[in-house]
This record gives sequence, structure tokens and C-alpha cells, in this order.
Amino acid sequence: MIEEKRIVLRNADLIDPEKIEDYLQAGGYQGLEKARSMSRPDLIAEIKKSNLRGRGGAAFNCGLKWSFVPADAPVSYVVCNFDEGEPGTYKDRIIVQKDPQSLLEGMAICGHAVNSKKGYIYCRGEYPYVVDLLNRAIDQARNKGVLGDFDIEVRMGGGAYVCGEETALIESIEGHRGEPRFKPPFPGVAGLWAQPTVVNNVETFANLPSIVINGAEWFAAIGAPNYPGTKVLTLTGDVANRVSIEVPTTATLREVIYDFGGGIKDGKRFKAVQVGGTSGGFIPESLLDTPIDFDSMRGIGATLGTGAVFVMDETRDIVDITTRIAKFFEHESCGKCNPCREGTFRAHEIMKKVNQGRASVQDIENLTILSQVMEKACLCGLGQAAPAPILTTLKHFYPEYQARLQLN
Ligand code: NAI
Repeated sequence: MIEEKRIVLRNADLIDPEKIEDYLQAGGYQGLEKARSMSRPDLIAEIKKSNLRGRGGAAFNCGLKWSFVPADAPVSYVVCNFDEGEPGTYKDRIIVQKDPQSLLEGMAICGHAVNSKKGYIYCRGEYPYVVDLLNRAIDQARNKGVLGDFDIEVRMGGGAYVCGEETALIESIEGHRGEPRFKPPFPGVAGLWAQPTVVNNVETFANLPSIVINGAEWFAAIGAPNYPGTKVLTLTGDVANRVSIEVPTTATLREVIYDFGGGIKDGKRFKAVQVGGTSGGFIPESLLDTPIDFDSMRGIGATLGTGAVFVMDETRDIVDITTRIAKFFEHESCGKCNPCREGTFRAHEIMKKVNQGRASVQDIENLTILSQVMEKACLCGLGQAAPAPILTTLKHFYPEYQARLQLN
């Protein structure tokens, strides 16, 4: 049985998240102190070497991302993506609620690396109670002087899912409507107020203090070599134990669901698991031995991103669930680009037809082509990821579609 390995949640339930003294006592801010003793290029090289890859969904090498910020930029920003709007996802909330100082320290480490004096945490609109905790944590860090000349401010989102996309998030902080920008330029070159900006996820930042303290090689040796470290996962749906865990990235889905989730509740049988929230792919029983690292997940059509593990038992109606997800994406599309605005609408329309037993084989063909086009043509991750549930359920659970088709 695989054991939990705690890096991000190393202090969870061991310290009082409201007390910076507890965090300091547990070795807090030693990572920042060490980082500040290093030159910026050395720090960036160390993080690059650790192969820490972004925990928000795209798994981009963190140190490489930082290296895009021009060394001579007079102003640059550090932005934490705490939008976490993916249904079923709450790993970032757990991290912040259990140990907010880890996030602040990680942001300050990044601040040193890219010569930034200002960080923003963009917090999901539905988390007002977490914002108060965060603000108290920032006040304590300021008062203790541990952040030095780096300051952090919290900005609230308004509940739009698309604002989890980094450039829509930047637009929102600037006070504009949350719509993605065309990339390039990437935020590393021109982000917040057109200045170089690093946008990383909560979990990415929270990994940094331990990496700086223990070194790149220590981190690179944990979990899967291509996606080292751990992943914080939240188990929801029909598992016996709906828990949040942190495991090395070599853990398989089966170990996650059965060893930690306690298997399927009420003695029922497993049917499917959706990994990565609504934008993740559906995985059948035959693929449960796949490790949870980003590349292995991508190989089977799933995204690790949000760490949401949504388990469905044998009684669940795959077509109905996929239809509801299609409705969600239609609602959340910002409408800026045609493939997403029209595509999410049409995908939901066809899914409703299937669900109601009114669809033909031709509709399924159209749905497949539409999904493939959206993956390629949509402007941002919302539209590119929206077809994943449709394509993976068509692939692995086609009999459930077939049973509803009109065969004339
Ligand atoms: P991306 O691959 O375009 O970019 C990833 C990061 O690397 C960004 O910060 C980007 O600025 C940076 N980057 C990439 N190429 C670069 C370059 N050439 N120069 C400079 N910087 C570069 O992916 P994106 O659009 O940030 O996110 C899409 C991913 O998000 C999808 O893979 C999807 O799985 C995931 N996703 C996550 C969700 C969540 O709730 N966490 C929801 C929906 C999608």
C-alpha cells in the first residue's frame, strides 16, 4: 500500500494556521532566507532543475516560466491563481486553510527570483471565509517583517470559471471583464498592467519552501521522474472516504481510490472516475493502474490539474452526467472566441438530444468532430478542455450512448 507523502501539507493539522509563530517554529521562512542568500539566476536554475511542474493544469516547468521574466525589468508581479473554480475541486482551499504561510513564503521566494516587490492572490469569489484567514496571515507576516520588501494583496474573483485562466484572471485583477487574452505575449513578458508577471497555482507556490531548503535533487527524486513530487488530491463522489490526500506522483488511480478512498461506498461496483474536475477525462476500470503523474494521465485523456478525483459507482448514468457537464461549459464560456461560444452551446444541444433519446448516429459523428475542433481551435483552456468528458465517455462508455440512439 502506498503511503502519503507530505510536502505541501507538511504542516497540516500540526500547526495553528492562524499563528505565524507556529509556522516559524516548524522551520517556516527558512526557505525564503536561503533563497535570498542565492543569486536570482542560481535560484531560478535550482527550481528549474527540481523539475517542479505547474500544479494548476498545464504542468509547465516552474523555473523555466520564471526565466521568461526579463532580468532587467523595472517592475514585475507575482500572481497566485487561487481561483479554483473547477467543480469538485478544493485542494487549494485545503492548502491555504491548513497552512497559509507556506503559500506566502512560496510567493516571496518567487518574488526574489524575478525581482518583484508585489504579489497578488486571486481568490475564488466563493471563498470569502478563506480571504479573511489569508489577510490575517499576510498581516502577521508583514508585522513580523519576514516578507521584507515584498508585499502581498488579496483580490477576489466574482465567480466566473474562466477567470481561472491566467490572462482572464489578469484582466479581472485590472478591473476588466474576465476574458482571456491572445498569447503570446505570455504573462512572463507582458502580464499584469503589461508588466512581466509570473502566474502560478497555490500548490506550486506551496512546494517552493521545501524545495529551496532540501534542494532540487531531493525533490526530483520523489515520485515520477517526469513529474516529480507529490500531488494533493480531493476524492469526491461514490467513494467510502471523501478525503483530501497528498501522495507521490507514482501513486496509481487504483491506490488512490481503494487505499485512501476505501473503495466504492455501500458495497457497489466501480464504474468510472473523472480526474481533474469537469474538464477532466472519464477513466474506466481497465485504466485504474495508471499513475497519477501529469503525462500518464494525459496519455489516457485525463488532466491531473485540479487534483479532483470524482468517483462514480455502477448506478451512475454517464450520458446524463456528461450532459450536465456540457451545460456547465455552455454557461461558463465567456463568449470571446467563436469555437467555444458556439461549440459549447452546440455540444450541450447534441448531448441533450442523446440524453433524451432523440439523437442519431450522425449526431454522434458531429459531436465528435465538433469536440476535436474545439480542442484545437478554442482560445483558452476552458474551450480546449471542455470536450474531454465527451470524447472520453464516447471512447470508454459508448454502449451507454448507443443504448439511447435512434437507429433510423
Ligand atoms: P499553457 O500550456 O498555454 O501555459 C502554461 C503556463 O506556461 C502558462 O503560465 C503560460 O503563460 C506559460 N507558458 C506556456 N508557453 C509559454 C511560452 N512559450 N513562453 C512563456 N510562457 C509560456 O496552458 P494554460 O492555458 O495556462 O492552461 C491550460 C491548461 O489548464 C490545460 O492543460 C488544462 O488541463 C488546464 N485547466 C485547468 C483548470 C483548473 O481549474 N485548474 C480548468 C481548465 C483547464
